[in-house]
Amino acid sequence: MGGQENGSFPEPSGVKNTIPSMKGEGFYDRNSRVQEQFILSSQDLLEEAVDAVPIAGPVGLADLGCSEGKNSLMLMRRLTEMVRQRSREPITVTHNDLPGNNWNGFFRNLTPYGAFVQASATSFFQPIVAPNSLHIATCYSSVHWLSQVPELPEPAGVLHARMNPESQALLAEQAARDWEAFLQARAQELVPGGWLVLVSGGNKDGDVAGLKMYALLDRILQELGHPPFVMPIYYRSEQEIREPLERCGFQLQHFRIQHLTTPFAEQLKQDGDRAQYARATTGFVRAWMEPLLADPRIYQRMEEEMEADPEGTEVANVQIVAAFSKK
Ligand SMILES: C[S@@+](CC[C@H](N)C(=O)[O-])C[C@H]1O[C@@H](n2cnc3c(N)ncnc32)[C@H](O)[C@@H]1O
Repeated sequence: MGGQENGSFPEPSGVKNTIPSMKGEGFYDRNSRVQEQFILSSQDLLEEAVDAVPIAGPVGLADLGCSEGKNSLMLMRRLTEMVRQRSREPITVTHNDLPGNNWNGFFRNLTPYGAFVQASATSFFQPIVAPNSLHIATCYSSVHWLSQVPELPEPAGVLHARMNPESQALLAEQAARDWEAFLQARAQELVPGGWLVLVSGGNKDGDVAGLKMYALLDRILQELGHPPFVMPIYYRSEQEIREPLERCGFQLQHFRIQHLTTPFAEQLKQDGDRAQYARATTGFVRAWMEPLLADPRIYQRMEEEMEADPEGTEVANVQIVAAFSKK
């Protein structure tokens, strides 16, 4: 870790992020109402974080995994307004994502909002701002993305939860290393008493985000004769989230697991329009999956199957909503 302790520029960790970013050109922004809903569902934790953090000078905020910015800018605009109720000090906001993110789109979306806004194109598994400079860090729908996929013996499924035990264990180890690296990086950046607010896909007794959709995907890939593919995603359990906290200098302030349907499923209940439901749900999936699995036939079939059987293929979301304070 070398220079990080004395506040100089962090040295490369040696971990290459092999994950591509979301589908760009505004596609993610247009198809991320589900993720927007997750942000809105954690308002109580944001309020508590703003009340709890010690503020005695300029304020640092960061959003990790900002994508093209529609949701991230909405979130950080709100958070800035909330902090403004407490303090007249200057506020700096860092929006962070991978180098391959659609940063042009992000900056096109950016209109001034009462903070010094900057962007960081560094993996969040490393520090992204100077030590001791952040009061609140947020991370929405992003930390379940792994830094890399280890080599797996015949995984036999796209998602960890549908794999053989050996592959599951190897992905769990990778996810544990990544979560610890993420926390270590935030521990350096946050001031004592600073908060991390996080929403991520989760695992409740084996029930994970989008399980039926992944079963459908496995079937489609098999029918298309697609070579084996492993999704670089891992949905953690409460135990896996809790395990390194103490060691990394964090205290758990809140933890809940929520089950949310999508706005499209709610709309379907109102209007019964299956075609529209299937189009919107497939759009949501394509926004993050297409950079990894580009074959258009996958999504054509997905849409057809979702229209034919909305319940059997639904994208039910098992979400971790949590907040941690730095000791
Ligand atoms: C599903 S999007 C969520 C975007 C936004 N937070 C929202 O709620 O709409 C996940 C984002 O995490 C980013 N991401 C994944 N791994 C990352 C990493 N190691 N460092 C920074 N960003 C990462 C992806 O590039 C992507 O933009």
